[in-house]
Amino acid sequence: MPGNPVAGALRGGLYTRVIGRRLLFFQEVASTMDEAARQAQAGAQEGTVVVAETQTAGRGRLGRSWVSRPGNLYLTIVLRPTLQTLPFLSCLAGVAVARALGQATGLRPSEEGLQPRLRWPNDVLLGGKKVAGILVESALEGDVVRYALVGIGINVDLDTSKVQEIANLATSLNAVASNPVSREEALRRLLQGMDSLYLQLAQGKTPLVEWKGLLDTLGRRVRVSWQDQVCWGQAEDVDELGNLQLRRDDGQLVTLAAGDVTLYDAALG
Ligand code: BTN
Repeated sequence: MPGNPVAGALRGGLYTRVIGRRLLFFQEVASTMDEAARQAQAGAQEGTVVVAETQTAGRGRLGRSWVSRPGNLYLTIVLRPTLQTLPFLSCLAGVAVARALGQATGLRPSEEGLQPRLRWPNDVLLGGKKVAGILVESALEGDVVRYALVGIGINVDLDTSKVQEIANLATSLNAVASNPVSREEALRRLLQGMDSLYLQLAQGKTPLVEWKGLLDTLGRRVRVSWQDQVCWGQAEDVDELGNLQLRRDDGQLVTLAAGDVTLYDAALG
């Protein structure tokens, strides 16, 4: 049984101001999103983090399930952003995860093909395969954000070849890095990175420029599907809110919001 990653992260020293003010560890939950929502509704302070060793009903974007076996990282952060900063949480998490994984794997910049990249909107890729996913959920009352939940799942030590539904699409940190990756270290770096980006966001500095630079999708030919529609096109750019601008094969430029769209990359599958 792997050790408690929260205790390990704290032992290494967690230097944050907001995120991680309270850290809760569960051996098993249905989903850290649900547990974090319960905590948020009960008044949990901003920055509370729910971490679980396993999830019995881990979920991804667009109603998909998330493979949640022991030895990996599953966490949800409770935030209380403004209506203006809410749209940037997903980009912010993408940047924080990419940075943390780059640091924790110890991959050198010269190992360019192995550096973390993002597939729009926020699949984190290593060597072209998905290594982490981000899910943002929020509760609003009119114009007021009651809370937002940033859920992050990272495959640290998952033998993806043994999980049929993701075998060809996903990877794990240990499959890519030359030395075993410490998930405590990955968690610690992630929380610290989220914290500093979140504080900057509150001061009006969005992570969009760095996020855009990490996007592997731009310039590629992609297929997108939403509801019952499918179309092909060139991923041309992202706008100031992170929406994808797709030049369809018929020449029309369409703007796609992350919430509704599944994107298949012709090169990555
Ligand atoms: C995606 O890529 O579709 C997003 C995956 C998000 C998975 C994480 S694991 C921790 C948190 N709890 C969940 O049930 N989902 C998120």
